[in-house]
Amino acid sequence: MNSLLLGSGGREHAIAWKMAQSPKIDQLFVAPGNAGTHNVGINVNLKLNDFEAIKSFVLQNHIQLVVVGPEAPLADGICDFFAADADLKQVRMVGPKKAGAALECSKDFAKAFMLRHHIPTARYQSFTKSELPQALQFLQTMQPPYVLKADGLAAGKGVLILNSLSECETELNEMFSGKFGDAGNKVVIEEFLTGIELSVFILTDGKDWVLLPEAKDYKRIGEGDTGLNTGGMGSVSPVPFADAAFMQKVKTQIIQPTIDGLQQDQISYNGFIFFGLINVGGNPFVIEYNVRMGDPETESVMPRIQSDLVELLMATAENRLKDAVVEIIPEAAASVMLVSGGYPNEYKKGLKMSGLNQVEGSILFHAGTKFNDQQEVVTAGGRVVAVTSIAPTLQEALQKSYGEAEKIQYDGCYYRRDIGKDVLKY
Ligand code: AMP
Ligand code: GLY
Repeated sequence: MNSLLLGSGGREHAIAWKMAQSPKIDQLFVAPGNAGTHNVGINVNLKLNDFEAIKSFVLQNHIQLVVVGPEAPLADGICDFFAADADLKQVRMVGPKKAGAALECSKDFAKAFMLRHHIPTARYQSFTKSELPQALQFLQTMQPPYVLKADGLAAGKGVLILNSLSECETELNEMFSGKFGDAGNKVVIEEFLTGIELSVFILTDGKDWVLLPEAKDYKRIGEGDTGLNTGGMGSVSPVPFADAAFMQKVKTQIIQPTIDGLQQDQISYNGFIFFGLINVGGNPFVIEYNVRMGDPETESVMPRIQSDLVELLMATAENRLKDAVVEIIPEAAASVMLVSGGYPNEYKKGLKMSGLNQVEGSILFHAGTKFNDQQEVVTAGGRVVAVTSIAPTLQEALQKSYGEAEKIQYDGCYYRRDIGKDVLKY
């Protein structure tokens, strides 16, 4: 079978790496891919918002399975486009249609969904521009710190955590004046929850679901979770505090009610759901839904899945998850993300990389890399490459990743040295 994976980050390299191991795959195409996906598939230069070009490619190359990596094409309705096209509707799609993608694309929709279906989440209210006085009034009923969220997609930057009401007023004014574009036309204000976060993933066909390995990511640029937010600086899986009792609560209080809610709301859904959770005193609460896998969580999740991923993806697309089983290896995975100097602010691109071939016993998942005109691997993004290791214990996996990371060099290479440290104590 020929398959097309959309995306170009570390997440997509990890998914492609796992898909390529399946005996079901003849040709795996990745669009647009990166210098790493080139090793496990065939990179194709397609723009993810050009559905007509994707259509032509899919038909010409007899693609039977399309897996959508990032949220943007889902938000743009790529799965609706395929379903509505007579030539494409046979193609199996992993990713929700727009109605399901709203779980990620509209925080207001997601909060109302959780409230309606009794899924534990922070207390909240939503406000539009004309409701600024009401928003300020609502804030007065809450304790600092205050959490303000732009309703729409804002490239991970739409969440503000503020300490004073005056800061809230300033920021609300800016959000309503277009600081995050249309994403800020509506703002969710919610209660601040204190606890430790983790990421839980399922594949679902809208009725049945399978649990994938959970993971924890490290979002801040600085050690000890300090400094600016990034796309993610590393990840570990499993998450030691997510024990059987906690995961049972996740299943019964969050995952199953979410699936039941989708059914009650008549939202068909075939794809990944990423539950961004926070553990508050032993109880899980939903911070956010994403309708795709996490990055860099995927880099630690994929190597722990023993089952054939393509079989699981096909079962997801064909509403056959009822009897599916996911075999997970007991070993731990640790991913350390090497980033560009300056990231998440300005950084240079096109820097020559060395040492990639010296890495042994760990997996390199490329995030922002490409080939230059001389066919050398150069940096092409803020997050450059994840070094992932598998070992009997998390400590050993981390040690291995840090040892191998030292071999990789490019001007300004930076990574956090404390990935996983906070969970080793559990
Ligand atoms: P989100 O984009 O909704 O995942 O929010 C980004 C980050 O802000 C989360 O990963 C949390 O670290 C933090 N955050 C969001 N909502 C809350 C909340 N209600 N309480 C505490 N932290 C939050
Ligand atoms: N690692 C968080 C995300 O992918 O959104």
